[in-house]
Amino acid sequence: MNTTNRYNSFNQVHKGLRAYLYDTALKLQQTDLADAKAGEAAMQQVEEVLVLFESHAHNEDEFFNRPLEETSPEVARMFEKEHEEDHRLGQVLTDLVAQWREEPDDHARAITGRNLFYAFNEFIAFNLYHMNKEEIELNAVLWKQYSDATIKATEQALVQSVPPQKMMKYAKWMVRGINNTELIKWLQEVRVFAPAELLTALLSILEHELPTERFDRVMRGLNKPAAVL
Ligand SMILES: [Fe+2]
Repeated sequence: MNTTNRYNSFNQVHKGLRAYLYDTALKLQQTDLADAKAGEAAMQQVEEVLVLFESHAHNEDEFFNRPLEETSPEVARMFEKEHEEDHRLGQVLTDLVAQWREEPDDHARAITGRNLFYAFNEFIAFNLYHMNKEEIELNAVLWKQYSDATIKATEQALVQSVPPQKMMKYAKWMVRGINNTELIKWLQEVRVFAPAELLTALLSILEHELPTERFDRVMRGLNKPAAVL
């Protein structure tokens, strides 16, 4: 079955989440974790990554895996189990952040900071495999069972369940993590289907995040006659 033209509901949010993982990994590499002040900024970023991954996994379970328990229980259970492992790896990081904050001196912070860096690398490695697997194996099951229209409707329900403030955090990393074609398509959909305030909020994120030349290019694409959505 040729499925490359099917709707990949995970593409955009996973690209955003990967961008956040890569950025945080680099921040951890560039930060002297012996230094309490510089290290604290990196710790807060790690905590924010964990919040977004935790709610992302929760939403995938609620909107995609749980409904599959009836028809494809092995697949649903496998991905729910992976989310449990993801949660465990996140808990290791949460504990290390707490431990790092308690450390009495630079030397102890450097040691716990190094352990935290390795734990974050494990979190990234696991999630890179996990997100690929969702886009290949979970999508294969979803595509077999549902139409693209149904998948999009499920995604809409998921997106609407996310509080606006948190949605803006995901949006920032999605803007940073996707290509121009994807940005234009996203904006076109928001323009047609979402309240005007959301388009305004999204455009202001784009303006802030993208270099001027790229922002202008995306705006020109958006203002061309809309492609069939
Ligand atoms: Fe997931």
